[in-house]
Amino acid sequence: MPHLGVYPGSFDPPTLGHLDVVERAAKLFDKLIVAVGINRAKKPLLSPEQRILAVQRSVEHLSNVEVASFHGLLSSFAASVGADAIVRGLRATADFEYEFQMAMVNRKMQPNIETVFFMTNWEHSYVSSSIVKEVALLHGDFQSLVPPAVAPLIEQAVLEKGHRRGE
Ligand code: PNS
Repeated sequence: MPHLGVYPGSFDPPTLGHLDVVERAAKLFDKLIVAVGINRAKKPLLSPEQRILAVQRSVEHLSNVEVASFHGLLSSFAASVGADAIVRGLRATADFEYEFQMAMVNRKMQPNIETVFFMTNWEHSYVSSSIVKEVALLHGDFQSLVPPAVAPLIEQAVLEKGHRRGE
């Protein structure tokens, strides 16, 4: 039986840490769906379309990786595509409490779908989407923290945000 993993996230923006998890998970699963969560309540830097495009551009070199988006419950989406497992990355212990809670809730809703965690690689342990956004919005060098194809999308989004604020 082929094994299907779903790697969900906001990916606002996708970072080198995300890409590292995708590349490692793609070796373990027959097929991996990177699922961009669309949450209207959050105020992202990148629009849903930009986030989907950013992830697509980052994973182009991986033949068993697909990109999708989902609204609503992750567990329902994972079940609807027939996933065996939900994939998440773990960095410092600060991630643990939230990830533990999410894994418990998702298992309560879909007992047959496991959550599996990939420990960050040392060099990406400090990288987060929030850090990338902060550095980018303050016009710092964020390029070395994201896949090369993602950088122009962030630059464009920062410019658009500046224009809207009249900066
Ligand atoms: O990259 P993020 O922001 O940590 O990803 C969070 C995400 C999108 C995976 C999470 O917010 C999510 O699963 N949202 C869908 C709503 C849901 O299923 N909630 C119940 C589990 S806590």
